[in-house]
Amino acid sequence: MKGIILAGGSGSRLYPITKVYSKQLTIIYDKPLIYYPLSVLMLGGIRDILIISNDETIPLYQKLFGDGRHFGVNIEYARQAAPNGIAESFIIGEQFIGKDPVSLILGDNIFYGYLDFFYRGIANTAPGATVFGYRVTDPERYGIVEFDQSGKVLSIEEKPLKPKSNFAVPGLYVYDNRVIDISKNLRPSGRGELEITDVNKTYLEMGELRVEKIGRGVAWLDTGTPEALLQASNFFGVIEERQGLKIACIEEIAFYKGFISKAEFAKLIEATPKSMYRSYLERVLSEAE
Ligand code: G1P
Repeated sequence: MKGIILAGGSGSRLYPITKVYSKQLTIIYDKPLIYYPLSVLMLGGIRDILIISNDETIPLYQKLFGDGRHFGVNIEYARQAAPNGIAESFIIGEQFIGKDPVSLILGDNIFYGYLDFFYRGIANTAPGATVFGYRVTDPERYGIVEFDQSGKVLSIEEKPLKPKSNFAVPGLYVYDNRVIDISKNLRPSGRGELEITDVNKTYLEMGELRVEKIGRGVAWLDTGTPEALLQASNFFGVIEERQGLKIACIEEIAFYKGFISKAEFAKLIEATPKSMYRSYLERVLSEAE
């Protein structure tokens, strides 16, 4: 399974925060936002990851992650010339995806909790797509999925004026390899984008769209406004301070997932500047000893 993080976009709603750097680099408590979606892919066992962004921001991600080898993953970078929509990821990523299935996460989507819904989506090798449904209070802002009494999917609509349900489709998707061709055959929507919802509609029409509801024990957080950023920071600050454990700590995840050996983890710590983050990694290592 390949993984893609789409981390482009102007983030204009967060101006002036996003005047100098991209939204996915804004800070959520103690680390850049993009660590959170990257950690989700890594927790899913995905080690081949493509980050798609713009010319200005790619060098910043490269500074942050390099080629990923030091934390046991392979990170590549590709450019989206203009905000042409989420589904363009699969056209840009065609070579990277090759003949494999692919999971896409949006660079500003944060998930916290037991991610079993995602692990099941990845493990399912039947042809088709798996997307998720998460209950929200503001459905007009998202892709919305409608179910019948038995849980069968009836429709999926992008930002409907009159939402047929409260179940939003978060920015985390799992597709078989046909997603590349499906994306190539899409026409831009009214807002001029290749819509991910149109990809999902195509799978729905083929009878191959699986939608799993995410339970209430999982947090899917928004990062679209200054208030949402503050809330997300507070949320993770509270949990990290209470437990003394870091969330979305990619080095720790790499170690626990066996992407890197103990010796490699120790080397990684050596290369980390003296900081609270480093002290945390040292503690993780000593507790594993
Ligand atoms: C996009 C998708 C939408 C999805 C949302 C999740 O919205 O188009 O279907 O529910 O991401 O974050 P956008 O970021 O384009 O407003």
